[in-house]
Amino acid sequence: MGVHLGAHWANIGMDVMLCSRTPPSAQKIVDTLKLGRGYRAYAKAGGEIDVPPPRNPAGAAAYKLSAGSVTDAASADIIVLATMFDNQWAQLEQIKAAIKGKGKIIIDMTNPFLMRPDDGANGIPASEMPPGGPAAVLVHQQKLGDDSVKWACAFKHTLWSLILPDGPAKSFNGVEVLGDDVAVATTMALLERGGWTPRYRGQLQVAPLYEPMGPKAHSMLAAFFTPSGLRRFIGDKLACM
Ligand SMILES: NC(=O)c1ccc[n+]([C@@H]2O[C@H](COP(=O)([O-])OP(=O)(O)OC[C@H]3O[C@@H](n4cnc5c(N)ncnc54)[C@H](OP(=O)(O)O)[C@@H]3O)[C@@H](O)[C@H]2O)c1
Repeated sequence: MGVHLGAHWANIGMDVMLCSRTPPSAQKIVDTLKLGRGYRAYAKAGGEIDVPPPRNPAGAAAYKLSAGSVTDAASADIIVLATMFDNQWAQLEQIKAAIKGKGKIIIDMTNPFLMRPDDGANGIPASEMPPGGPAAVLVHQQKLGDDSVKWACAFKHTLWSLILPDGPAKSFNGVEVLGDDVAVATTMALLERGGWTPRYRGQLQVAPLYEPMGPKAHSMLAAFFTPSGLRRFIGDKLACM
């Protein structure tokens, strides 16, 4: 997600830093993207990173795209959480002191309940369950304990392959957004600039309802497998031939 979104945001003129535990590896990605040929690599989670070239490859050389360490993320106005949930707090914790009281916007796209081949999403441990219910953003908010931070969730339901440098792949462009007002407004502006259609769902307290495969989530699958749910999605008429 980080590489696809970084390429996309750089391509729409944002100033983006790809932060990594090994900055030279992020620098290689940055250097490749700036050649305007996209970027392709094996992804540990399964599948690939497969960023195609932008429509205007010549423009890539001017990307405001850089590489940094995990702690360099503290310098950004908007910090995007794009590590697997099980390992995300270990990254965020490293900048906790540096960002304290600075009013950062944090966009959380981590999914604790969507199983991954790399075993990076094992749910929310009972000992860490926030009072507001099972949602990654509430866990991170509680652990960070910084009232100045404005939180948003976005892209949690968006498959990486739909995120292209020039915007969403084809017409699949809706992105669910929820969170604190200022963070939501910023996230929606960012989405609209990139050609996405934000779907506002509410403030932070609704986060457990939109946690993919979470225990409190509106389950699209459950709805799909009941007769009334099925009708909501495809109507009554079926034909088999
Ligand atoms: N994949 C999707 O389609 C999708 C869609 C929506 C939301 N999400 C969410 O977005 C987040 C990232 O998913 P992803 O599929 O983009 O993951 P990914 O390609 O596997 O990338 C995760 C990155 O996290 C870093 N990382 C930090 N600590 C790590 C550790 N202990 N072990 C391994 N890597 C570590 C690695 O970067 P460095 O090695 O450079 O540090 C790695 O490249 C997840 O929370 C996921 O639920 C994914």
